[in-house]
Amino acid sequence: MTFRFSLLALSLVLMTTDAMAQDVAAGEKSFNKCRACHQVGETAKNTVGPILNGLFGRKSGTVAGYNYSDANKNSGLTWDDAVFTDYIKDPKGKIPGTKMSFAGIKNEQEIKDLTAFLKQFAADGKKGG
Ligand code: HEC
Repeated sequence: MTFRFSLLALSLVLMTTDAMAQDVAAGEKSFNKCRACHQVGETAKNTVGPILNGLFGRKSGTVAGYNYSDANKNSGLTWDDAVFTDYIKDPKGKIPGTKMSFAGIKNEQEIKDLTAFLKQFAADGKKGG
């Protein structure tokens, strides 16, 4: 009995870990849509768009050294799951006047995967933040 329960517990843990790994891998692929303009990781630099390290929890328009539009800077948004989901579905709908030229991602699962990928990067670009 105990043995069966621990097997069940173990397989639940394994399933959860596996699902999370897939999310991140799928999210990394999805991030290819962003790479033309955004960087993440320890060597990330501002390019066409701002660095996306440490995105979740930070206020919009606050990456040092990046020249944001007034629309982005003054949006008053803080990036959390719900705000990011709305924004990435329709950037110009969520922040009218943003200079981010990106049509958006409509697929909910893809947005979740992308969120899981981005959440790996702490503000210093190290993974595990
Ligand atoms: C064609 C270039 C381009 C692409 C592609 C692009 N972005 Fe952007 N992004 C920008 C620019 C430019 C800004 C700055 C917007 C402003 O100042 O109005 C920005 C801003 C952002 C912000 C706000 C950051 C902050 O600090 O407030 C987020 C979040 C973001 N982009 C996420 C993404 C994600 C995720 C993708 C891919 C799915 C993506 N972007 C694709 C150019 C792009």
